[in-house]
Amino acid sequence: MSTAVTGVKPTGTLHLGNYLGMIRPALALAARCDRSFYFIADYHALNTLRDAARLRELTLDVAASLLALGLDPERTTLYRQSDVPETFELATILAAVTPKGALNRAHAYKAAAAANEAAGRPADDGVNMGLFTYPVLMAADILQVEGDLVPVGRDQVQHVEIARDVADAFNAAFGATLGPPRAEVDPAVEVVPGLDGRKMSKSYGNTIPLFAGEEQRRRLVARIRTDSRAPAEPKDPDACLVFGLYRQFAPAAEREAMARRYREGGIGYAEAKACLATAVERALGPPGRRFQALRADEPGLHAILADGAARARHVARATLARVREAVGAGVRR
Ligand code: ADP
Ligand code: TRP
Repeated sequence: MSTAVTGVKPTGTLHLGNYLGMIRPALALAARCDRSFYFIADYHALNTLRDAARLRELTLDVAASLLALGLDPERTTLYRQSDVPETFELATILAAVTPKGALNRAHAYKAAAAANEAAGRPADDGVNMGLFTYPVLMAADILQVEGDLVPVGRDQVQHVEIARDVADAFNAAFGATLGPPRAEVDPAVEVVPGLDGRKMSKSYGNTIPLFAGEEQRRRLVARIRTDSRAPAEPKDPDACLVFGLYRQFAPAAEREAMARRYREGGIGYAEAKACLATAVERALGPPGRRFQALRADEPGLHAILADGAARARHVARATLARVREAVGAGVRR
């Protein structure tokens, strides 16, 4: 039996990088797996977000977004991380078998330390323990629901590898208890570049929001960086940010047709951008309207999340019972 599990941090407005890098492949994977557990990682978000009202809003935004994009809550268990307290007991136990060195090398922590050093600050400036132990909590998220496939964007692969190492370390110490997970990265999507060519990321302010209105989307697409080649000049489609996004949204025949026009010359960036905006609207316009309706029904969202939490806890409780038994916690029954 295959089980997919993944989490989305509610730390800002979802963008096309999140969608192409992780949400779209995760929804496709859910349709192929026997079980899937997709959750909103609100305690992971706490490392950077210090605003209760905003965390609540963003949590519901993510839930409504996933549903609008086609997540079927009957098939996929959709829940909020903080509604499954078993996670945090498991994280404490897993911390005991996690080498600190693995966390020193973990991507989220290393990126923060590197940014500090580049700015001439001490490496740990502003780094909290939640950021440092981030992969341990992630391991608990994954292992408690017996996840074996973890759909994530490229930058999260290392965190999933740490989860695998943590499972191995636990099993070596206490006997085979936890299944080893592996990351599933969509091979057709590398890192999605933003308007300026760097990784599309809310930290860089270079994003196109997933559910932007048609007008806003056209305005942002118009800002995508291009070179100054004239329409008649031949261009390499694979070197162009506009085409890079277009190929993710357009059907194969249209994609090929545009690539040909790039190579032969005859398409200008203004036209390519208009085609891109239209292709994105075709894919995301209807889910955007569903999002508005779903987001307006907060009791409906709460009910779906409560049902998901109950289902996730059912599995998590069984895992935790096995883990507690393996380590010798509590009274033996
Ligand atoms: P951000 O960089 O905007 O803060 P997150 O770190 O919250 O985004 O990423 C959430 C998920 O989306 C992760 O699985 C990540 O790998 C994926 N993701 C984010 N940005 C991109 C991108 N530009 N290209 C591909 N995947 C991405
Ligand atoms: N760390 C992931 C991110 O930044 C979110 C996440 C938390 C996650 N727990 C997870 C992803 C478990 C996959 C599995 O995007």
